[in-house]
Amino acid sequence: MMGITVRGLVKTYGATTVIDTISFDVADGEFVTLLGPSGCGKTTTLRCIAGLDTPNGGLIAINGRVVSDAREGVFVAPHKRDLGMVFQSYAIWPHLTVAQNVAFPLTVKGERNTGSAVGWALDIVGMTHLAERRPSELSGGQQQRVALARAIAARPQVLLFDEPLSNLDARLRDRTRLEISRIQRELKVPALYVTHDQTEALSMSDRVIVMEAGRVVQQGTPRELYHRPVNRFVADFIGSANFLEVRRAERQWHLADGTPIQVDPLSDAGGTEPRVALLRPEAIRLDAGSVVEQNSTLNRLTGSVLGAMYLGPHIEYVVAAGGAHIRAFSRLELPPGSPVTLTFAADDCRLVDDTAASPKRNPASDYPRQSPILENIP
Ligand SMILES: Nc1ncnc2c1ncn2[C@@H]1O[C@H](COP(=O)(O)OP(=O)(O)O)[C@@H](O)[C@H]1O
Ligand SMILES: [Mg+2]
Repeated sequence: MMGITVRGLVKTYGATTVIDTISFDVADGEFVTLLGPSGCGKTTTLRCIAGLDTPNGGLIAINGRVVSDAREGVFVAPHKRDLGMVFQSYAIWPHLTVAQNVAFPLTVKGERNTGSAVGWALDIVGMTHLAERRPSELSGGQQQRVALARAIAARPQVLLFDEPLSNLDARLRDRTRLEISRIQRELKVPALYVTHDQTEALSMSDRVIVMEAGRVVQQGTPRELYHRPVNRFVADFIGSANFLEVRRAERQWHLADGTPIQVDPLSDAGGTEPRVALLRPEAIRLDAGSVVEQNSTLNRLTGSVLGAMYLGPHIEYVVAAGGAHIRAFSRLELPPGSPVTLTFAADDCRLVDDTAASPKRNPASDYPRQSPILENIP
């Protein structure tokens, strides 16, 4: 099989298991992201694939060749795995020129005529005109391009990225994100990309693998993860979310204050009560005052504005409604205390498993997470 295969990977440090039996595939030409909070084991997974760490269990194959098999004692050295890797720290040599840096892995391999490979790689990342510069004469973004050119110069079969954008400022991060996607598609090699940034994961990936505390929680396309998270941890980690406590009484779900609420029937497969319903802020329409018009497929809650945070494109409101604090977006300017109506479809309100974050992480759902909102709350 082409691509990357990981089966039952285990990595321990002393008595601590940091990778706990994870399995996944990256198909040929596919861009897959490992997404999860700091310390969940993303880098360790990547290092095991690169051969920089020795797994304690499981098997890793690259393009059908087993490069690591703990039980059989197989371990192929990193430089024989035919992969290119880009790190968060660019890890380029300050005393070498751009061209020499890109040529470095080829030179180490004993290749003499590196000129055309280096020229090709610099062309792909748009750095040909800076080939003779030293790293100190380059911006952070340009240094990251050098690291990228170096990773692809030997035409690797697999590309690995470990948070390659985290040292760039926001604007450059957006540009470089597009650039990495373009290059990966052009080279048609499988890529495994590690990040804790949901925007990078959603925008770049064919598939995302969400990790928590050394385990895989969910794998899927960005849309699947966003719209059908398997539990509260995934819903909370990807996008912003309201979690509403609901209880069933007389075949009907109710919010904390007893207000009846309709949920997506497809998400309603039993489970112990109280349940948690996921409601994305952008799925809510916020109107001033009290809206009375009836529509059987929509939920309508009346409430009042608790706090607001100006974000530019819209204002994020916190509304007290249904016995809960609900975040919703709007472009209306509404002072605290304003009566409002929240309208949302039953399909946009999904029951999810109430499995929250591991103790390693502060649950972002500990509302409110940003202090500006707090200031308006009485
Ligand atoms: N060399 C090491 N020795 C001991 N513990 C380590 C070592 N490397 C990583 N860890 C631990 O393994 C866990 C996973 O780390 P890491 O893979 O770097 O996470 P991530 O990249 O997701 O932030 C962390 O708890 C970290 O402290
Ligand atoms: Mg890491």
